Formats: sequence, C-alpha cells, structure tokens
Amino acid sequence: MKDFFRPLQRRHGITIPITIKVIVGMLLVIAIISIVFMVFGVRIISDRIVAEAQEKVRNDLNTGREIYLSKLAHINTVVHLTADRFFLKDAFLSGNIEQASAELIRVKEEEGLDILTLTDQNGSVLLRTSNPGVIGDNQNHDPLMEMVIQKMEPLASTIIVSGEDLQIESPILAQQAYFEFIDTPHARYRPETEQTDGLMLKAASPVFDFQHHLVGVLYGGILLNRNHDIVDKIKQTVYHDVRYEGKDIGTATIFEDDVRISTNVPNEDGSRAIGTRIAEDVYNQVFVQGKQWIGRAYVVNDWYITAYEPIRDINNKAIGILYVGVLEKKYLDIKQQTVYTFLTITVVGVLVTLAVSYLISLQVLIPIRKLVSTSKALAQGNLDARVDIKSGDEMEYLANSFNAMALALKKRDEQLKEFATKKIMESEKLAIVGQLAASVAHELNNPLTGIVTYSHLMLEKIPCDDPTRASVEKIAGQADRCKDIIRGLLDFSRQRKPEKTPSNINTILRGCISLVENQAAFHNIQIVENYQDNLPQVVIDPSQIERVFLNLIINAAEAMDGGGKLTLATRLDSDGRVVEVEFTDTGHGITEENMNKLFEPFFTTKDIAHGTGLGLAISYGIVKSHKGAISVESEVGKGTTFIVRLPLNGIIEDTENEPEIEIAHH
Ligand SMILES: Nc1ncnc2c1ncn2[C@@H]1O[C@H](COP(=O)(O)OP(=O)(O)OP(=O)(O)O)[C@@H](O)[C@H]1O
Ligand SMILES: [Mg+2]
Repeated sequence: MKDFFRPLQRRHGITIPITIKVIVGMLLVIAIISIVFMVFGVRIISDRIVAEAQEKVRNDLNTGREIYLSKLAHINTVVHLTADRFFLKDAFLSGNIEQASAELIRVKEEEGLDILTLTDQNGSVLLRTSNPGVIGDNQNHDPLMEMVIQKMEPLASTIIVSGEDLQIESPILAQQAYFEFIDTPHARYRPETEQTDGLMLKAASPVFDFQHHLVGVLYGGILLNRNHDIVDKIKQTVYHDVRYEGKDIGTATIFEDDVRISTNVPNEDGSRAIGTRIAEDVYNQVFVQGKQWIGRAYVVNDWYITAYEPIRDINNKAIGILYVGVLEKKYLDIKQQTVYTFLTITVVGVLVTLAVSYLISLQVLIPIRKLVSTSKALAQGNLDARVDIKSGDEMEYLANSFNAMALALKKRDEQLKEFATKKIMESEKLAIVGQLAASVAHELNNPLTGIVTYSHLMLEKIPCDDPTRASVEKIAGQADRCKDIIRGLLDFSRQRKPEKTPSNINTILRGCISLVENQAAFHNIQIVENYQDNLPQVVIDPSQIERVFLNLIINAAEAMDGGGKLTLATRLDSDGRVVEVEFTDTGHGITEENMNKLFEPFFTTKDIAHGTGLGLAISYGIVKSHKGAISVESEVGKGTTFIVRLPLNGIIEDTENEPEIEIAHH
C-alpha cells in the first residue's frame, strides 16, 4: 500500500511540492505581465514627457519670435513717425539741418535707440546723433538703406553692421559689438578667434519735402550685441523667471552667425555666456539648411530641450539664430519621479497580487494536503481516517467521495474479517464432526459387519415361503445401507493421501459416463460432452477424482428427477495452469438458503433412503487435497452448474490453504 505514494518521490529524484509549483507558476505569470507592463509603461511615459517638453519649447519659440519682431516693429514705427514730422521737413527747407539735432537726440534717448542718423536722398550722412562729429560718409552700401531709397518707403530688418560702420556710428557701439570667442564643450569649430561686426535691429524711413520729393532718409536702430533686453523679456514672459536647482529653467539667446551675442544662458560662474558658440549639428540644420531645430541640445554647460530658428536679413539671408530652451534636468527629474512612482505602484501591485493569489492557492492546497495526509493514514491501515473539508466546491465533493470510499473500504475489511472468522469456525466444526464421525464409524464398523454377515447367512437358511423371511430381508437390506453410510463416513474422515499420477481428465469423465449411462436414473437424461481436445495431463489421484465426478453427475441426475440435460465440459483456463471441469444440469436448482450448507457433512434435502448428505463433503475433501477448488452457480427452477478446478500440478503440499469454495446464486 505504501507504494501508492512512491511515484511522487521517484520522478526526478527530488520532490517539488504542489504549493511551490503553483506559486512559482503564478509568480512567472505575474512577473512576465509586470515586466511587459513596466517596459512599455516606462517607454510610453518617457516618450510622452519628451513630446510634451518639445511641444512646449516650440510654443515658447513662437512667443520669443513675437517679442523679437514687436521690438523691430517698434523701432520701425518710431523712425517712420519721426521722418514724417515737420521739424525735419523744415530743416531740409531752411537748409539748416543742425536745427533738427536737438529733437532727434531727444527721440533717440527717449526711445532707447542706439543710433538715429539722417542722410540726404543719396545716403550721405547729414546728422549723426550718436557721433555728431562724423558726417559725410555714405550709407548706401547698407542693403536696407539701398532698398528704402529705391522703394521710397519705410522698412525695418535685422542686419549685420560691419565693424567699421559701427566705429563710425559710435566707438562705444563698436566696442559693445566686439567679441573674442570663448570655447565651450560641444561648441562648433571656427578658425577665427574674434568678431567685430554687430547684429542690429534697424529701421529706415524716407523723408519727403512738402511737395513730396525725397530729400533724405532717417535711420535708427538698436545694437543687439550685449543688449539683453529682448532675451530677458522672453525669459520673463515665457518662463516667469522660474528657477530650478539654482538655475533659470528657461533661457533665450540671440546668435549672430554662430556666436551668442545676447543671452541669459549662464556660464559656470553664473555670468551670461556671451561670446560662446553654438553646437555644430544645430548650426548646420538651422543656419546652413535654414530649418527649425526642436530637440535636446548641449547649450554651453547643460543639456536643454531647445528650439532654434534662423534670423534673416532684408534679403532673406540667414544672419543669426533665435533660441529658446528649458533645462532638460527638470524633465529628466519629472520623468524619473514618474517612472519611480510607476515602478513602485507596479511592484506593490505585484506583491499584493502575489499575496492574494497565494491566499487563493491555499484554498486549493490546504484541502489537497488534508487529502494527501488522510490517504497516507488510510494506506498505513487507519481505516477510520476521514477528510474534513467544507469548502462548498469540488474539493468538498472530492473529500466526500474519498470519505465514502474509506467507509466502503472499512466495511469491506470488516466483512472480510467476519467471513474469515466464519470460515475458520466452519472448518473447525468440520474437523470436529469429521473426527467424531470417524471414531463412531470405526466403532460401529465391526458390530455392523457382524450384523450384515449373519443376516445374510440367516437369509440363506430361511426357505422362501417362511413368513419370517421378509423381516430378515429387511434387516439385511437396512444393514447394507448402514454399511454404506459407515463406509462413506470412513472415506470422508480418513486422511488418506491421494496417490497422484498424471491423468487425462477427459478419459476419467468418459469412464464415469459409461458407468452411469445404463442405470435407470439416466434413461431420460441427455448427456452432452464438450471436452477440450489436447487437454494437458493433470497430476491427480484418478480414483478419488472419479469419485468426485460421479458424485456430481449423480447429484445432477437426482436434481433432474429422471429427465433433462447434463452438459459436461472441460477446458484449460486462460493462464494455462488449471483445468476446469464443468457439470451443468437442468434440474430444480438450489435455494439461496441451502447454498451455504451444500458442503457440510450430512446436509441433504433427500429422504433417508436416498441421501446421506456426504457426497459433496467428501468431494470437497478430495478436491482440497488436490489444491483445487469447487464452485457452484444455481438458479432455482432452471438448473445448477458445478465447476471443479484442478491445478495441472497439485503435488506441492500446502495444508495451510483451504480449498476455495465459490458460491454464486441467481
Ligand atoms: N446438481 C444439484 N442440483 C440440485 N441440488 C443439488 C445438486 N447437487 C447437490 N444438491 C443438493 O445438495 C445436497 C447435498 O448433496 P450431497 O451429494 O452432499 O448429498 P446427497 O446427494 O443428498 O446424499 P449422498 O450424495 O450422500 O447420497 C443434496 O441433498 C441436494 O439438495
Ligand atoms: Mg450426492
């Protein structure tokens, strides 16, 4: 029984409890799901944050451009309105240009212009407010001036002013525009080390006389180099001067070519990073190819999420770059925080799921463990072991079936024990009866022999017509019958060992038939012989076995009461080790009540004259000593089948084992 549990241990050499299997299985599923979830989640979050940041700087750049252009528009308005004023026309009319000087200086100061200069209709300077001593030079080489004189309408644009021109406009401006380049990591390579020209927001407007003839041009402008008004206004408007970890979150810059000339991007020391230059890849895309740049870029000393676009002059040629950018660090931190939060939630979720699934798995595993331990107990012989599961599901159903099975097992066990005890008692009873019968028969045998002998002697002497003869005949007949009974008893009880020789069962059966078939009792009985050919020889005592067969045949004939069919059959059983001999009659059958008593000595349903009730008891004894078995099947009113099983070699002595009696009833 213990073997039942062994396959579990043998499989792979190690035992993996079902608990571990279930939990590991769940863990795998959960782990796979959460890894997929985390990888994609983190990816989506990162992409989303980057996209958000880029969208923001794109908008910031738009705002920055508006601020820049509004400054230019303002200068244009100031110059245009001033050029239209009467005091200028009057100055030209009177020929005394100097009389306009005071008002022009006032306008320049009030509007915060760096230059405000008046020329004649050909571009020769008549009055220069920023550097009054220098006049007479021609400004016609300036593309803006050229276009205004040509079109005779006010225009404004960002333009490059050369170092010499700046020197003429004002030495202070020339100095303000001058940069010696400062190298930073990632900065674009450039062979030059300095720059003298400047980037200027400039507007020019024609001056007409009262007859609307062009008499001069007024131009004014603001030098953007080292002038941080615009970039600071962008920073303030767009980023509200918000700081992150000691640094400005948002920054703006104006480049002249690739040089930062106006910026609030700080150097390491916190000063404005003017004089530093742009990164190569950004320069190529924005300045050379003329496209916007939106993305991360290394700006001076930090990574920023940036937006750049070209600044163009009046001829639409790229001359500078406008930049806005936010510190990437802030977005990285947001990203990191979001990812951490996300990961924490996922991990907590995984743990909670794991705990919940563990609890659920216990619902299944605890009952299984109970079942296992109970079945072990059962296997070890504790038939009272029961499983107690009240889960209201299949487990409870299983437990109930298991308990029912255990109960059935216990009942079967009890029945077996009871049966065994009964059998032992029966065989003890048989033995006692046998011994008693043997000693009685033995004691009676001698006196009976005397009665038989003398009654027959008396019969011989009594003449036929003597009236006492009938009585003596009765005495002799009854004495013969007593003799028969005594012989039967002696046969039954005598522990005569069978003298076994290899014999053919079919031959013995044929012998039996030839002995009985001429008897009156068999006249109306049809005998059918179904013998298996080539039946192997069986080691038996032929005369004893013949007696068994005769008993069964005569019983069958008596049961059929002179009419019916007796079928005899022999065969080798499927194992090839036992010969089966079958006697089937169509007699009155055996009642269930009588079934169990058939083999008891002196059990008979026949009257005194016909049966002693020893036939089957003797047969049983003989078959037993051949290690065989007798079984009966019967149906009342239909007939009876006796089967005698004889092992091919029944020589091995084994008195322990009772011969088997099998009884079946329909
Ligand atoms: N083939 C059978 N059909 C019906 N009943 C049978 C058959 N064989 C035996 N019996 C029943 O079993 C009883 C016992 O049989 P058993 O051979 O031991 O004794 P008996 O035939 O009555 O007497 P004896 O054989 O000693 O002359 C019979 O009395 C009969 O009731
Ligand atoms: Mg009999």
